Amino acid sequence: MQNKKVIVAKNAGFCFGVKRAVDMVDDLLKEGREIYVIGELVHNNQVIETLTKKGLKTVENLDDIPNDGTMVIRSHGASIKIINEARSKGIEIIDATCPFVNKARIVANDFYKKDYNILICGDKNHAEIVGINSLTENSAKIVNDINQIKDINFEKSIVGVMSQTTYKLTFLKEVVLALLDRGLKKIVIENTICLDSTTKQTEIKDLAKKVDVMIVVGGKSSSNTNKLAEISLASGAQTYHIEIADELKKDWFVGANKIGVAAGASTAQFLIDAVVSGIEKMVE
Ligand code: F3S
Repeated sequence: MQNKKVIVAKNAGFCFGVKRAVDMVDDLLKEGREIYVIGELVHNNQVIETLTKKGLKTVENLDDIPNDGTMVIRSHGASIKIINEARSKGIEIIDATCPFVNKARIVANDFYKKDYNILICGDKNHAEIVGINSLTENSAKIVNDINQIKDINFEKSIVGVMSQTTYKLTFLKEVVLALLDRGLKKIVIENTICLDSTTKQTEIKDLAKKVDVMIVVGGKSSSNTNKLAEISLASGAQTYHIEIADELKKDWFVGANKIGVAAGASTAQFLIDAVVSGIEKMVE
């Protein structure tokens, strides 16, 4: 390779919460247990394929799990309703909820008990948010666009603001400023963005300024990977979001001297390695 450099973000790939969930499932499958999960265990097709080959059963809802079955709760967590229904059916529950998500659940429940108006920065249909909102009796207002703030009716005197764990810090800041602009006097802010998301976001912002092209590796449905791609683009790097090395295109690297590689929290190391060697072959 001449004059071309591939720089991989230091914290690319599996975060602590995803690794913990994948390892827990892998260990249970090794014991020969029949393990069910509602929805994708992690937002990465290749990781799921590997676990499915080992026997993981991904289902759509609770009715697809036998009463004597074992269900793993994903790192995103689950709604109280699902947990209670599973318990009453006699399904064994193995909880792989990420501790950072658990912290956000505790915050939401605390805001609820204190009778605050609850505002969550996040995607209302994302499993993590559905789970968190179940701790507020589904009373939280959920925003993913700053323009939504002006239309929200706050009936209570205090607003508690928090975030989906994988959301952008810049959005949380924008929301707080917009609330201040609306004249709200009492705002309680809990930064529930997880350490891994914060680190990855800071890292990609810096890396994007140093490279000509950025390849972001991760599931297309992965919230944290999508956020990384958005930050990279906004920071000035030509950015491509791919899931696997086969999607790489040689012309992306024409005229590029420095190429960055970052990866979301559900991206396994073997996928990152394949992308790096794919790029290196293309720019040789
Ligand atoms: Fe947990 Fe953050 Fe990963 S919430 S699952 S450490 S992206």
